[in-house]
Order: sequence, then structure tokens, then C-alpha cells
Amino acid sequence: MATIAPTPPAVQRPQVRREPSSYDALKAHFAAHPEERLRHSHPWDVSRSEIYAEDTWQPVFAEMRAAGQLHWIPESPFGPYWAVVGHKAIQHIEALPETFSSSWEHGGITILERPDDAQLAEMGVERRELPMFIAMDRPQHTGQRRTVAPKFTPTAITEMEAEIRQRTGEVLDRLPRGEVFDWVDTVSIELTTGMLAILFGFPWEDRRLLTFWSDWAGDTELGAVRALDETRWGILQEMAAYFQTLWIERTMDKEPGNDLISMMIHSPAMNQMSPEEFMGNLVLLIVGGNDTTRNTMSGIIHALDKFPDQRKLYEERPELIPNAVQEILRMQVPLAHMRRTCTEDTEVFGQTIKAGDKVVLWYISANRDGEVFDNPDKLDITRENARRHLAFGYGIHRCVGARLAELQLRVLLEEMHKRRMRVHVAGDVERVRANFVHGFRKLEVEITTF
Ligand code: HEM
Repeated sequence: MATIAPTPPAVQRPQVRREPSSYDALKAHFAAHPEERLRHSHPWDVSRSEIYAEDTWQPVFAEMRAAGQLHWIPESPFGPYWAVVGHKAIQHIEALPETFSSSWEHGGITILERPDDAQLAEMGVERRELPMFIAMDRPQHTGQRRTVAPKFTPTAITEMEAEIRQRTGEVLDRLPRGEVFDWVDTVSIELTTGMLAILFGFPWEDRRLLTFWSDWAGDTELGAVRALDETRWGILQEMAAYFQTLWIERTMDKEPGNDLISMMIHSPAMNQMSPEEFMGNLVLLIVGGNDTTRNTMSGIIHALDKFPDQRKLYEERPELIPNAVQEILRMQVPLAHMRRTCTEDTEVFGQTIKAGDKVVLWYISANRDGEVFDNPDKLDITRENARRHLAFGYGIHRCVGARLAELQLRVLLEEMHKRRMRVHVAGDVERVRANFVHGFRKLEVEITTF
């Protein structure tokens, strides 16, 4: 691969774990302690991870949308919460960031419950939180987002296109023909970790660590298992220690580089970060750029295979590719939800939300809202309003990496098209068992030509 040649590190890298994967650790934990499996009693508690693993979430959300824009779920393993399921209500709530806070001090942006001091004392553990700018309100959010935003402007993204195209082409050219292989590992993970390694100036030979850390950091079910706290925290500290060596190296550079670490070092809004905040923002960029794009790259293959008429259209009319990217994001929704916490009693679509209530925005439902999208369960790459999907969120926190993700996805479809590559699902399809990251663990495929 002609991308980054390994160079001897100027600063010795720390010893870090590379296994077990978060998935194996969680599986082993539940096998040993089946009584700890999360129990869901409310029929509309859509935090149950089975419905995503088994791909059976569509009917329950359809039923909820038919009954209203949002619903109070009085009990769940993550505590009581509002399930916001309508497209309109999610946009409304995201447009009011003062009333609906993202702050980690209230519990941040996932459905996970924030234990109070008494609960922590009872469990005998310290408070472990990672402040990151996705989980901050204004004005702090504004300064930190501004630091990394220049990496994602239209001009900056255009400059990355040639490199992305070359790397994508190389990965596609190496794919086996006439045999079944796992698209997730061989293509989706390879391309997304490669991209992140480039954004961070991360050692190329260690790039799979980014996937390992991202999986450990982004799993909400794992985050709810107290017995895995120590391991999880230890792995994140190793990640921070590793990045610390890169940080030190970059401070030695004569000219500031334009990788994300150098940008943080030279930003007044970010260079005074506490170790926790440094770790938090790394997790944000790693999870933000990793699981999401990776799962859309797998979603592309799955969706085109499931809707052969649309695959034919893509093969015949490559000019539809940019819109196909939007439509696949609408259907796939790599992050099923984001969460807010209400800061003052307020009314939303006839329901009173109280200060302190947890408000979970189910993008996965909004993107199937029949009031916005005709025939929403059908992939339609000519859909005129596909861009109205909420897979990137909405408002002040809307995904800062959206343009980069769109570019990587467009280039993947274009380079597959150039090679007249048709990818068939030809074996196991295993989905992620989680209510936050939504996607594929395994997607066995075979390639033919059109
Ligand atoms: C298909 C790919 C992606 C999807 C679906 C996605 C989705 C999201 C969503 C839903 C949010 C929260 C929006 C909200 O609260 O309204 C978000 C925020 C964010 N994403 Fe992405 N993302 C993707 C790719 C990326 C990439 C490639 C990066 C960077 C390398 C990235 C970095 C971020 C960051 C830093 C934030 C926080 C923005 C803020 O709080 O202002 N994302 N993303």
C-alpha cells in the first residue's frame, strides 16, 4: 500500500492490548452471567439490542410513529426516557440546544444512564467520564468544533479525494474473485481505519488499533456492564497513552502539520485540555469516523443486494451515485440514536417534557417516517428528498465529518462501478448487537462482474 511508510517513532510507543475485542468480552461476560442480560419489559422500549441484531426494529417504530411523534417509556435498563420517533419532533428538539442539552454533565449523548454520586459510592467506583465536544453545549462546543472543522471544509475534502480514490482502488483490486469473503473486515474496516490513520497521522502499521479502541468505546451495552468497566477504562487509557506519544512528537515538529492532533495542539480552544478531555475528543473522532462510515460501506452492499432493481439502476446510471449515497445513509442509519437531556419543563407536540428527563432521538425511525419519505422501507436511489435524512443529525451538532463520509462512500461506489464489480451477499450476515451503533459485524460476499 503506497500510503504511509512506517517510520521509527521518535517517542517510544506504550504497550497496548489488542484483544479481546469488545464483542468477545461482552459475549463471554453474558455467557458467564446470564442473569445480568439486560431485561426490557415495556413493549415500546426500543433500547433492546436484539431488535437491531435481528433486524426486526421496523414494525415497532412504525407502530410508535402511527401513535405520535414521541412517547414516554417509563422503564428500561437505561432508566425512563422519552422515545422521539418522528422526523418533525427530532428536528424541533435539535433546533433547541439550550432546552435540550447534550452536556456530559447531564449524561451526554447516548441512552446510557449517568450514575449519581450515591450510586457510585454504593458500587465503590470512581466517576469516569470523558468530556468531548459532541457532549458539550455552547459556548464550549463552538470553540472546540471550530478547531477541527477546517479539516472538513469543502476545499479540504476536495484535496483528499485523489488519495481516497487511490486507496479505495487498491483495496478493491486486491479482493478475491470466485470465493466468499467478509466485506466488513476486508473493505469497510480497512478503508475507514485507513482514512482515520491519515487524518490523525497515525502509524499505518498500527491502524487496526483504531478499530479496536473504537469498538470498546462506542458500545452502549458494554458501557452498561459494570464488571467490564475496569477493562474498558484500562483500554481507553492505553489509547490515550499511545496518542500522548503522537502528541509529543507533533510538538517537536518545526512546522505545524495539518493532521487532527497538530490542529488540537495549536488551538487555544483545545490545547489546555485535561487528560480526560483529550481522551474524550479522541474517542469522539475515532468512533465518529469509524463505526459510522464502516457500517455504511457494508450497508451499501447489503442494500444493493436486497434491492436488485436499484442495483441495476446504479449499474446503468452512475450519475445517480451521489443521490444513492444519501439514500443508503437514510436506509442504513449508522447511529441509531442520539440523546439529549431536558433543562426546563417544555411542551413538544402536545407532550410535557420535564426538566431532567432523558430524551432519545431515534434517527433510525425518523428516516422511515412516511410523512417525509414515500414508501420509506424501499431503497430508491432516485428519491428526490433522500437528503432530508437525519443520519448525520441536525442543528449545531450535525456531523462535522459528513462531507468526508459522503466523499468516501461516493468514491467507493464509483470505483466499484469503474471495475464493473457486482457484489452479492453469499453467506453469513451478522449484525451489531447494540442500540447505538447500527450495522454489520460480518457480511460474507462474492464478486461477479456486470
Ligand atoms: C456515515 C458516516 C457518519 C455518520 C452517519 C455520522 C453521524 C453523526 C451524528 C448522528 C452526529 C451527531 C449529530 C447531532 O447530534 O445532531 C455526528 C457528530 C459528529 N461526527 Fe459524525 N458521522 C459520520 C462520519 C463522521 C466522520 C468521518 C467523522 C470524522 C472523522 C465524524 C465526526 C463527528 C464529530 C466530531 C461529531 C460531533 C459534532 C458536534 O458535536 O458538533 N463523523 N456524526
